[in-house]
Amino acid sequence: MELFETIDKRFSNRKFLDKQISSDDLKRILQAGMQAPVGRGKYEDMHITVIQDKDFLNEISDLTDRSVFYNAPTLVIISAKDDGHGLNKENSACVAMNMLLAATALKLGSIYLNLVIGLIKENKNILNKLNLPEGFVPIVGIGLGYADGSHIVKHSIDVNYI
Ligand SMILES: Cc1cc2nc3c(=O)[nH]c(=O)nc-3n(C[C@H](O)[C@H](O)[C@H](O)COP(=O)(O)O)c2cc1C
Repeated sequence: MELFETIDKRFSNRKFLDKQISSDDLKRILQAGMQAPVGRGKYEDMHITVIQDKDFLNEISDLTDRSVFYNAPTLVIISAKDDGHGLNKENSACVAMNMLLAATALKLGSIYLNLVIGLIKENKNILNKLNLPEGFVPIVGIGLGYADGSHIVKHSIDVNYI
């Protein structure tokens, strides 16, 4: 898919089919995330966790009545280590954005998730099960899977020219 078409077609998918993505697609999405810019090139301060285990996904979704990852069959958690420059969120968002666009280019549904991160951080048992290396904190979640439908909404942000 051409880049601008991919950008236009990306949307936050909140209805996933009960079908797992292929390992090849997952690999390409992870690789896209790894190609993202990261402050001072500190890729060693970033970590990616892929959760596809249904029992573990159910354990996370059972933490609340709210739908926090919309039954996405693949939940990716991007974590970062405090780099002393306060760039964890920015770095994680850059990695996430590349993954969302890669998923769209592969005709998969995707969504950027923040709520699930708060839930995971509040629950020590789940947090421990992420098995993150020492000092790493979850920052961004991404839901991946096959979308049940599509929609294109043109967003707009005010611009001023000087
Ligand atoms: C930082 C950030 C956090 C978000 N957290 C959530 C979330 O926890 N749950 C959710 O359903 N959508 C979440 N979203 C998706 C936004 O609601 C969505 O991107 C926005 O409404 C624009 O819609 P679109 O992505 O379909 O273009 C988040 C997006 C961003 C960038």
